[in-house]
This record gives sequence, structure tokens and C-alpha cells, in this order.
Amino acid sequence: MGKYKIAAIGGDGIGPEVMESGLKCLDAVAKYIGFEFLVERFPWGSDYYRAHGQMMPENALEILHGFDSIYFGAVGDNEIPDDVTLWGLRLVICQGFGLYANVRPAVMLPGVRSPLREELSNKINWVMVRENSEGEYAGVGGRSHRGFAEEIAIDASLFSRVGVERIQRFAFDLARTRSEKHLTCVTKSNAQRFGMVLWDEIFAQLAQEYPDVKTDKVLVDAATARMVLNPSSLDVIVASNLHGDILSDLAAALVGSLGIAASGNLDPSGNNPSMFEPVHGSAPDIVGAGIANPIAAIWSGAMMCSHLGEKVASSRLLAAVAEVAKANEVLTRDLGGAGTTEDVTKAIIDALERDDLDLEGFNRIGS
Ligand code: NAI
Ligand code: MG
Repeated sequence: MGKYKIAAIGGDGIGPEVMESGLKCLDAVAKYIGFEFLVERFPWGSDYYRAHGQMMPENALEILHGFDSIYFGAVGDNEIPDDVTLWGLRLVICQGFGLYANVRPAVMLPGVRSPLREELSNKINWVMVRENSEGEYAGVGGRSHRGFAEEIAIDASLFSRVGVERIQRFAFDLARTRSEKHLTCVTKSNAQRFGMVLWDEIFAQLAQEYPDVKTDKVLVDAATARMVLNPSSLDVIVASNLHGDILSDLAAALVGSLGIAASGNLDPSGNNPSMFEPVHGSAPDIVGAGIANPIAAIWSGAMMCSHLGEKVASSRLLAAVAEVAKANEVLTRDLGGAGTTEDVTKAIIDALERDDLDLEGFNRIGS
């Protein structure tokens, strides 16, 4: 029987709430199929910062390295600045472990309403591949003359040939496995004349190696309009760190809610544990109310199962999510329902334990 060591970091706000829901579903699906998750929880985040002056201990990466995967909630606190929380935890893990591929599927769940007209929204079946280690979030920059009239602040975007090539190659490889075999390169090389031009050049070079993958290129501003007006013209999308960050919230909104958007931060080499987390943040406006949608966390758990090689568990979790969405009886407020986090978790567990669950009914994810 397979056993997987999982480091669970709930973090802040609704992070721990949705993470616990996800862990319950992961435990249930593992039991149903016959393997085991050995979960260790780490109380890192803003409360840890208040007690220790840092978001996680110095040797956190060393500790995490001993796990097969990291399952993460969210960070973000009303008191501690966002750059401190995000850089102190999530970005340290992503950069430290070379989790350079941030994969974010956006697929219409049955029964969920999109703000788009149905004939447009039912075509949405995208995977956003976001560069996750450099670009605009490389952390290069500085401030000087603090507090004076001539104060300046600089954030430099860093694009390396190695960094750009590996994320684009990952996206080409992924596109190749899908039925559309279509990869769209998001760029801004008209205005950003160095990093984005390198980005485009490498894309054109790689495209020669993948003649079976259809490619096109779109400026990031035009990409927003295209996602809304012509969603079926997109399949796999590769974007820089900042562009991918912004476009994936738009993608989440178009498929119904940020509360269902899942992601994996992958080290494709397999040398380090990959990290799975919802796209959303700590949602301070609903923390403690028991109404956070757990689907993003559960879907991220399904991605973790798939990454660990437990493909059947992954399909079963997603099929259960789809079943509950389609039934439209137990959903949280963001999806128009009146259910609590706990109600939805329970409904998904009930569905995934059903022997007659339709595993083929919702197989568009990642296909
Ligand atoms: P957010 O994603 O936390 O919330 C945006 C809106 O979506 C809110 O109205 C919230 O209630 C709603 N929402 C989010 N997740 C939901 C869920 N599961 N169910 C129902 N509704 C949900 O983004 P926001 O407000 O911009 O940021 C809040 C904090 O989170 C900030 O401190 C930010 O830095 C942090 N953040 C952290 C991220 C991470 O840990 N990966 C990602 C994004 C933001
Ligand atoms: Mg974001």
C-alpha cells in the first residue's frame, strides 16, 4: 500500500479552514482506494510571525524536503504587510525548491454559472502555465531616499534564458498531451523591450521543436478581452509570473468563483516536493464564518494525487466535486448556494465514496 508524506501548512485566514476540508477528502479517497496519506501539520504563517518574528523557521526548507508534497492553504493578514507574509512563506518555498511551474486549470464545472453567456462559458477548458520563479516577482529591486521628496523604488523584472526556456518547454509538453494541442504565448513585448522580447524569441525557437503543437501569441491586455469574448480560442496558456497571476484570477471568475480555482507549484525534476494550493488568498472578509468554498483546496488535492501517481484518486475526487456541483443542492454562497464549508465537504466525501460515481462524466480536466 502506497504511503505519502504530506506537509500541511494552513497559513492564515480561511487557509486552515479549506485545507482541513481538503485533508478530509484526501483521507477519504485514499481509504476508499487503499493507500495512505501521512500528514504532518505546520503552524506557520502570521500567528507564527507574531510569536517568532518570522513566517516559518530558518530550517523550514530542510524540514519540508523530507516530504513527498506540500499542501498549502493561504497567507495574508490584516496586520502584517502582504509582502512580508507572501515573501516569508509562499515565495520562499517556490523559489527555494525551484517550483517554477505554476499550473492552474480553469474548467467549467457542470451546474456552475459563469458571468459569461452559456454558449461562451461552456467552452472554457484552459490550463494556465505561469512562470513561478523569476520575472516580475524575482525580488530584484530596492528603495532609496526613504521618506524624502526624491524617494525612489525599483522593481526589476528578471528573465533568464534558463528560466524562460524551462517554463515554456513545460507548457509545450503539456499542450502536446491535450486534444487541442494548442499553446498561446502571453506577452507584452511591444512595451517591455528586453525580458518580454527574450520571452518571445525563446517561444519561437521552441515552437520549431514542437511542430505538432499549434501556437499563437497575444499581448496580455488583448488576452483579457480574448478570454471573455472568445474563450474557445484558448487551450494551454503560458505567461510570465505577473501576467499569469492576473489572468488566472480572471479565469477563476469566468468559471464561476475564485473559490474553485486550484493550482500546483511544480518542480518537474521531482527533486523537491511540489506544493498544491488554492489560487485564492486568505479572504479576511469571510474568515471564521464557515462559508469558505473548499472546492479550490479539494481540487488542488486532486492535482496533488495526480502528481504523486494516484491518478484514480485524482479522477474520483474531481468526479465527486463535479457531481456535487451538478446536483446544485449543497454549494457555498460564492456559487449561489447556502451551504457551509462543512456541508460541501461532507457532500463531496459522500459522493466520492459512492461505488456508482460516474468517473467518466467529468473528464475534461487536464485533458
Ligand atoms: P482573496 O482571494 O483572499 O479574496 C478575494 C475575494 O474572493 C474575497 O471577497 C473573498 O471572500 C473571496 N474568496 C476567496 N476565496 C474564497 C473561497 N474559498 N470561498 C469563497 N469566497 C472566496 O484575495 P484578496 O482579498 O485580494 O487578498 C486577501 C489576502 O490574501 C491578502 O493579504 C493577499 O496578500 C493574500 N493572498 C494570498 C495568496 C496566497 O496565499 N497564495 C493569494 C492571493 C492573495
Ligand atoms: Mg494571485
